[in-house]
Amino acid sequence: MDLPYGTPASMTFVTNLGLITTDGPLGANVSTIEWTHLVSYTPGLIAVCVDPPDANHENIEAIKEFGVSLAAADQNVLASLAGNTKGRKIDKIGFLRELGFSFVPSTQIKPPLVEGAIAQYECKLLQQIKPGNRTVFIGEVLVANVFPDKEPLAYHQRKFWKLGEQVHKPGKEELEKQAEVMEKYKRS
Ligand SMILES: Cc1cc2nc3c(=O)[nH]c(=O)nc-3n(C[C@H](O)[C@H](O)[C@H](O)COP(=O)(O)O)c2cc1C
Repeated sequence: MDLPYGTPASMTFVTNLGLITTDGPLGANVSTIEWTHLVSYTPGLIAVCVDPPDANHENIEAIKEFGVSLAAADQNVLASLAGNTKGRKIDKIGFLRELGFSFVPSTQIKPPLVEGAIAQYECKLLQQIKPGNRTVFIGEVLVANVFPDKEPLAYHQRKFWKLGEQVHKPGKEELEKQAEVMEKYKRS
């Protein structure tokens, strides 16, 4: 079955917002990608799922590298602007710089990174697959900069959110009690 855009079944996920930067035949560009996922620790791999007509798609296919800046909670306006404008029509980096947003140079790849993000990753394209209507670009992380004082911007039900109250995670005592019950269900 399909899970169309804007329907309850496709809006229930809680996601990060990746600010994906590229620099290729269409010039330097940035777009917002909620489908940005860590998919391997060793090596560190990040997957971003991009619509084929997008400017970033053409740039990534051409230059085989991209930047991933995970949006901070106060980057809601930036995430909205980068995700609602097309790099084929607008020099978004120039436009966003004039609005006061900052981009910083990468060290190992050509695209810039977004200043103020909770983390920045410089990625080299390892693989691309197209299982459905998005291309999954899997990038190997060459450089990771993490800013632990920042809070992430979350996306859910097509709205932007800040993380709220921390909820309880079972502690040692609870885990021990559950382990006793688990004993009875062990497969031989
Ligand atoms: C909050 C938000 C999340 C988005 N997530 C995705 C996504 O995961 N994948 C995708 O292909 N497009 C996503 N988009 C749409 C792209 O950001 C949008 O099509 C953008 O204009 C593409 O820019 P480009 O053509 O300059 O590459 C999202 C947009 C917004 C506002």
